[in-house]
Amino acid sequence: MGQIKACLFDLDGVIVDTAKYHYIAWKALANELGFDFTELDNERLKGVSRMASLNILLEIGGVTLSDEEKKRLAEKKNENYRTYILEMKPDEILDGAESFLKELKAKNIRIALGSASKNAMTILERLELTHLFEAIIDGTKVSEAKPDPEVFLKGADALNVEPEECVVFEDAEAGVEAALAGKMRCVGIGSPKVLGKANIVIDGLHQMDYNKLMSLQD
Ligand code: BG6
Ligand code: MG
Repeated sequence: MGQIKACLFDLDGVIVDTAKYHYIAWKALANELGFDFTELDNERLKGVSRMASLNILLEIGGVTLSDEEKKRLAEKKNENYRTYILEMKPDEILDGAESFLKELKAKNIRIALGSASKNAMTILERLELTHLFEAIIDGTKVSEAKPDPEVFLKGADALNVEPEECVVFEDAEAGVEAALAGKMRCVGIGSPKVLGKANIVIDGLHQMDYNKLMSLQD
């Protein structure tokens, strides 16, 4: 593994907790379709693209729909979801995320976003974090979903660094797999039971700093 030159961050669940808004919007849709959707069900949607999320939801409800209808419902859910994220404030940034990003910048570590979300730009703007990212690869720029490494490889490419020089921060199992498939180091954020393949697993970015990052180099 090479020298660490860049950090690539997933957004949802790493920098901000948007899962609660996704949950409200998916639950509203499920209820409209006549079935319930629990917080445990919502766990299955972490890191999963919008359409794949809808397919999981419909499977839970035992509902079959045409592609046309699915497209309409995915858009409807997104409109509802956006009413929540448009109200987000910088105080919703997860503990330790902003100070870690600023520490990395001060130490000349390159920073990119690697998110499946097509709403990533809106969210970063609302959190006033856009300026800290040199490259933003989001759901509008990739064709393959995690665990495919495309989103992170495009991030490394945009920063002009090698995959071996990158560390990925991820809260979803598919995201950890994507990082490792891309030959990158990975810090899991969440449960070691779910993210055990990562190089280390921490509770949140408040447990991370430059020295800990550099210890991954050895
Ligand atoms: C991921 C989230 O970051 O983005 C998923 O973890 C979500 O839950 C996915 O489905 C797509 O998000 P969006 O904003 O494009 O619907
Ligand atoms: Mg995530």
